Amino acid sequence: MRPFWSSGWRGAPGRFELHALGRLRRFLGVEQRIARLVDQVLSLAPDRVIVTGDLTALGDQDELRHARALLEPFIAAGLLVVIPGNHDRYADARHAAFEVVFRDLLTSDLPELADEHGYPFVKLVGEQHALVGLDSTRVQGWSHYLVGRLGARQLRALARVLEHPCLERRTVLLLAHHGPAGPSGSFDWNESGLIDADALLRTIRDRRVVLLHGHSHHRYWHRAHGGRPHLIAGGSSTERPGFWEVQVDDHRALQAVAHPLR
Ligand SMILES: [Fe+2]
Repeated sequence: MRPFWSSGWRGAPGRFELHALGRLRRFLGVEQRIARLVDQVLSLAPDRVIVTGDLTALGDQDELRHARALLEPFIAAGLLVVIPGNHDRYADARHAAFEVVFRDLLTSDLPELADEHGYPFVKLVGEQHALVGLDSTRVQGWSHYLVGRLGARQLRALARVLEHPCLERRTVLLLAHHGPAGPSGSFDWNESGLIDADALLRTIRDRRVVLLHGHSHHRYWHRAHGGRPHLIAGGSSTERPGFWEVQVDDHRALQAVAHPLR
């Protein structure tokens, strides 16, 4: 076990939560569960596998590399699309360890539309779909334990992406770690925590978008309503072992099945 301060001051509350508050117990047997999940997901022959962050507890490079190794079957098959979560930043004062470890997976088909940190990135998929990855960990200091934020610059970049001719006729699967609503459908400090949720929802209103997000350990789906798109929360793949299988014809006509780990 590493010393309490080995992750630096940013990681200290995370280490306290991990050890003193019992979070570590949730990870017992996690590698075996992930191996079974990987096999189960691959048996469905997906077009892509999406992981919406919090791959790690504290986010130092060794832990990130270990998480990457567990997902290697997806990477080797060219399937994995991944974004960072708040836990992947706790030990990372410069906000770069995640991007170092997953650099080859974070490239964009429209790099000129990304900000200086490389987000949003765009993956064009076939003729009819695109994946767009966001970074919702843009908060200062200790507040990264409590909330997520996309920021005005990234949201303006997202608006430019959604207006780009390349994406005009495509359905966009938009990936963010923090979501705009908890299981109740309202903002929730524990389960969603995105403090600029309203700005995100304005940006994607009436767009050909489906939002897939993480952070909450619960797995839920808020159907599209009015101009607001479908919102699907992935849930913890390891604490509540399972995943969503999402089949997208377009942004309105989609089917999603929550599979438990077999
Ligand atoms: Fe999170």
